[in-house]
Amino acid sequence: MIEARIKKLRELIQYHNYRYYVKDDPEISDSAYDRLLRELQILEAKYPEFITENSPTQRVGAASLDAFSAVQHEVPMLSLANVFSEAELNDYEQRLYKRLTKQSLEHSSPIEYVAEPKLDGLAVSLLYRAGKLVRAATRGDGKTGENITQNIRTIDSIPLVLLGKNYPKVLEVRGEVVMPKAGFEAFNAKARKAGERTFVNPRNAAAGSLRQLDSRITAKRPLDMYCYAVGYIEGGKLAPTHFEVLQQLNQWGLRVSTEIQQVQGLKGCLSYYQDIATKRQQLAYDIDGVVYKINDLALQEQLGFVSRAPRWAIAHKFPAQEEMSRILAIEFQVGRTGAITPVARLEPTFVGGVTVSNATLHNMDEVSRKDVRIGDTVIIRRAGDVIPEVASVVMNQRPDNAAKTQLPTHCPVCDAAVLKIADEAVARCTGGLSCGAQVKQAIKHFASRKAMDIDGLGDKLIAMLFEQQLIHNIADVYQLSATDIAALPRMGEKSANNLLHALEKSKQTQLARFIYALGIRGVGEATANLLAQHFKTLTDLMHSTEAQLCAIHDIGPVVAAYIATFFQQQHNQASIQQLLAQGIVWPQSNPVKETMDTQAVPLKLAGHTYVLTGKLSQFTRTQAKAELEALGAKVSNSLSKKTTALIAGEKAGSKIAKAQKLNTPILTEQQLHQLLHSSQKRRYFPRAYQARYRPRSAPRYRYSWS
Ligand code: IVH
Repeated sequence: MIEARIKKLRELIQYHNYRYYVKDDPEISDSAYDRLLRELQILEAKYPEFITENSPTQRVGAASLDAFSAVQHEVPMLSLANVFSEAELNDYEQRLYKRLTKQSLEHSSPIEYVAEPKLDGLAVSLLYRAGKLVRAATRGDGKTGENITQNIRTIDSIPLVLLGKNYPKVLEVRGEVVMPKAGFEAFNAKARKAGERTFVNPRNAAAGSLRQLDSRITAKRPLDMYCYAVGYIEGGKLAPTHFEVLQQLNQWGLRVSTEIQQVQGLKGCLSYYQDIATKRQQLAYDIDGVVYKINDLALQEQLGFVSRAPRWAIAHKFPAQEEMSRILAIEFQVGRTGAITPVARLEPTFVGGVTVSNATLHNMDEVSRKDVRIGDTVIIRRAGDVIPEVASVVMNQRPDNAAKTQLPTHCPVCDAAVLKIADEAVARCTGGLSCGAQVKQAIKHFASRKAMDIDGLGDKLIAMLFEQQLIHNIADVYQLSATDIAALPRMGEKSANNLLHALEKSKQTQLARFIYALGIRGVGEATANLLAQHFKTLTDLMHSTEAQLCAIHDIGPVVAAYIATFFQQQHNQASIQQLLAQGIVWPQSNPVKETMDTQAVPLKLAGHTYVLTGKLSQFTRTQAKAELEALGAKVSNSLSKKTTALIAGEKAGSKIAKAQKLNTPILTEQQLHQLLHSSQKRRYFPRAYQARYRPRSAPRYRYSWS
């Protein structure tokens, strides 16, 4: 029976959606899922009389709307009170204790809370009648929102039909629609390339996407929804605690954040806050704090509401990541490779937990695109450890005399000509090592932790040594004397000795570190490793030709040219000789590998690149990296099309989404073990891992906007 098969297919697809999105544990491969969807599409095309509104093929409605209609919320959508510190949180709990009667507290002292991430998106209400999604609305002013059902239906992680049988007759759930960070970055990158408008942050991107009158546009945006509360129900029963209610939602097929935990008392809340703050950057979506909710629904009821927020919940916010400031000037900074970066000098502003007075404007193309002018009021953003940036201009506050800025024709530090190649966004100073800015940056890079690791030789000291003409290039650092250093302002004999000791210690190094420390353009840590493994001696590397370099897997013609040119330059050769003469040494490469190399047997993982993420239980990251490299693999920090696989430990973050986007296989720690300890054969990936972690074809995953 056709109709029965269609019904069965819908149930199967719905179930596998649930395994994929809600359980994060798919049971079938993506291709098997696609086959089900295709079979359903074909049958529905042949027998349109059997198409129903809630079929998984019917997520995108055809007609675009003129306007959104208004929705009256049956139960108001409330907001949350905020605290910003432990002291304020303490006050909050004290107020709770005062309100709660002695009797109710006996059962619950310390108070049990549910701690949740505070997702930075858009609050949305979903209404299910008889298990079917019949309406979705924005929060609006809390009483009246907008009907965005058409758009919400395009979000794959929202079920059109609830799972199981025991859901209430009417269920109104609330949650946050977010755009995952990876999707946001990819969207902006694409828009930037096409010269189109970018979004300031993932929250605006989610809001902008939901506000589309044409749901086909929304369908192309990578949106997700996480549910966190029930608005109201009819004809059903909720569990007695908030935590169990969230589990019920899960069982009905609604997605709930996996970071939610039950915690005891303020101590539990604070330790949750710390945990989440630490992993904030790795989370797939932006959060602006955490929310604590009293777990016991009876206690919640007893506490009730005050004005527009519940007394039983409180948001513990992170310091704001975005603030307004004013541009006092735009200056140009010169980087290690001569790149000239426009930098906004700002009215000092507290953002993301620190006072910011400078923010990057990236490059001149970005300055014109955002139309940033001196005197403008701007929004600055400092997310995590990322360099503060000017996100956008507040146009309606632009003063009449706001002044445009221009790329200087000469380097602000050394006065050499500035060169901008037509297709490149970046302009560069042509002064090379005669440019003080480039020399200081080069020395800073040389001394940095992953390079020569010279403890204590930081920015300020380098600047002083340079101004006093005690160092002119990287090789000079090893010629410093205790008297030279001790004579500098704020440097005594003790700090001079410490620095000399650190310099001595750094001389015992590794070839890869030394290559990286030279600061060759395009040669990061991973490429330096690759070069060390390939050439094994510095002499061979220095004599390599562009063609030989290009032949190495993962080195392209541009970087090959940078490397060859670097070693051809006399002043670089002289610096290297000077450094070696100071006694810099590294162990010669492992003789076993040399034999293998001479016999032309490739190392097991030669030519493969891996990226590590998350916490591994049986290795440290450094060990895992060393083991992979010992087998000839390259270990990189960032994913690209060339990555062989992502190795994901526990609590891996946004790299997973990126790997999925790039179709990169994802391996578990156990699979890493197998990889390291299986026989010396070239390795292929069993289909199973690929299928499981590959994004499903459209319309399930939409991180591409073609
Ligand atoms: S509960 C009655 N839980 O924060 C309680 N809200 O500042 C209503 N939000 O409008 C909200 N994550 O958009 C709750 N885990 C979470 C949340 C959350 C984000 C948003 C929500 C709300 C706003 C209040």
